[in-house]
Amino acid sequence: MKIIFVCLGNICRSPMAEFIMKNLCKNTNYTISSAGTSGYHDGEDMHIKTKEILLQNNIKCDGFISKKLDKFHCQNNDLILTMDESNYNFITTNFSNFKDKVKPLCNYCDLGYKNVPDPWYTGNFNEVYTVINNSCKNLLKELDKC
Ligand code: 4NP
Repeated sequence: MKIIFVCLGNICRSPMAEFIMKNLCKNTNYTISSAGTSGYHDGEDMHIKTKEILLQNNIKCDGFISKKLDKFHCQNNDLILTMDESNYNFITTNFSNFKDKVKPLCNYCDLGYKNVPDPWYTGNFNEVYTVINNSCKNLLKELDKC
């Protein structure tokens, strides 16, 4: 199973999801990565607050480099998980061949969220961690059933 998480900047939400899921999937052979629809932060490390939250939760996050989503990412993954409606609409419009693989991460959230709030604007990285962690745990339960 190959999974890619997608947000706008690929420095806050999708890297957080990538490393939370990698930590949850340590005993699997899943391949997990992330990318952004914008490319605004290509080549950069993740946001310092994303890193802080991951480290507070004993989740390793070394060696991250932000990158822009391209069609090869879509081709090479089985599941493309988006953080909000804007990411979802971007991919289903621009990479429409792959639209059957695209799912909102919050489909797996049971805390009442439809989107993962963008902390670039809200400043609330703890909320993002809670929503992503809940969603990823539920996602893994679903995948384990397959
Ligand atoms: P992300 O957050 O999509 O969760 O990585 C953002 C990071 C940067 C920007 C927007 C959202 N930006 O406009 O630079």
